[in-house]
Amino acid sequence: AVQIKTDLPAHIPNVEVDLTQMQMVLSGLIANANEAIEGHGRIEISAKDKDVDDEFAKGRPGLKPGHYVCLVVEDNGKGMDEEARNRVFEPFFTTKFQGRGLGMAAVYGVVKNHNGWISVESELGKGTVVRIYLPCAEVMEREMEEPRGELVRGTGTVLVIEDEGVVMDVTREMLDNLGYYVLEAKTGTEAVKTARAIGGDIDIAILDIVLPDMSAKDIYLVLKKACPNVKVIVSSGYAIDGPVQEILDAGAQGFIQKPFSLASLAKKVNEVLQEK
Ligand SMILES: Nc1ncnc2c1ncn2[C@@H]1O[C@H](COP(=O)(O)OP(=O)(O)O)[C@@H](O)[C@H]1O
Ligand SMILES: [Mg+2]
Repeated sequence: AVQIKTDLPAHIPNVEVDLTQMQMVLSGLIANANEAIEGHGRIEISAKDKDVDDEFAKGRPGLKPGHYVCLVVEDNGKGMDEEARNRVFEPFFTTKFQGRGLGMAAVYGVVKNHNGWISVESELGKGTVVRIYLPCAEVMEREMEEPRGELVRGTGTVLVIEDEGVVMDVTREMLDNLGYYVLEAKTGTEAVKTARAIGGDIDIAILDIVLPDMSAKDIYLVLKKACPNVKVIVSSGYAIDGPVQEILDAGAQGFIQKPFSLASLAKKVNEVLQEK
């Protein structure tokens, strides 16, 4: 059996995070801790606030002095050898029979996106401690920013065309939470099949620019044929350029840069759906 212990004080400074992404971080870390435990073990999840001074920052390259919340997931599972420790954040690095090796790569990406810092301490046969430092929200600064406002929720059917599993999972979760009905396609062929199968009844498609089987432009054209009223948001990790611009010129309504936050996805989908 696995015992879970938490130490999450009620009074702790605020951090500004993307909730969906941070849920993914925690579930990824807890899944790994759980998978590292063979038989009986313990997972401890804790948070505390931590002032990082010059002295503390010095031994931790990349961590800047400041006020942080430190989130710790600790297990007493089988731990990592040196190779695993060195490669833990590498995409597709896995030591598991059916591992995908994307969990820690995604965790790393999310932490970086939040201007945070992560460390992994692990010893074979003893266990693993993952620490994530997230900068505390500056109260004054936040009050001066534009009001955060309500998330723009909505209804309608969204087809997400995306071959990267983690991105798909996060996007689906976000759209789901916003109230949309979500359909998934991992390839262009799948997207077109889905569009035809449901009689073209798709309000909006989010189209990843790089897919394994078809060019995004071709998918766009076939999709428009299968459901002429579909609106299309092109998504890409790169800024608007060549291939993205081409699809926008062909008539796509919007562009969103990856990785996107819940708020920006909510806003973009709503904006495009409102368009005539
Ligand atoms: N808590 C942990 N204890 C032991 N090994 C871990 C732990 N977390 C990650 N690892 C190692 O890092 C590798 C990569 O983890 P991850 O990116 O989540 O991919 P996956 O879980 O699919 O293998 C794992 O295969 C494992 O070897
Ligand atoms: Mg994992």
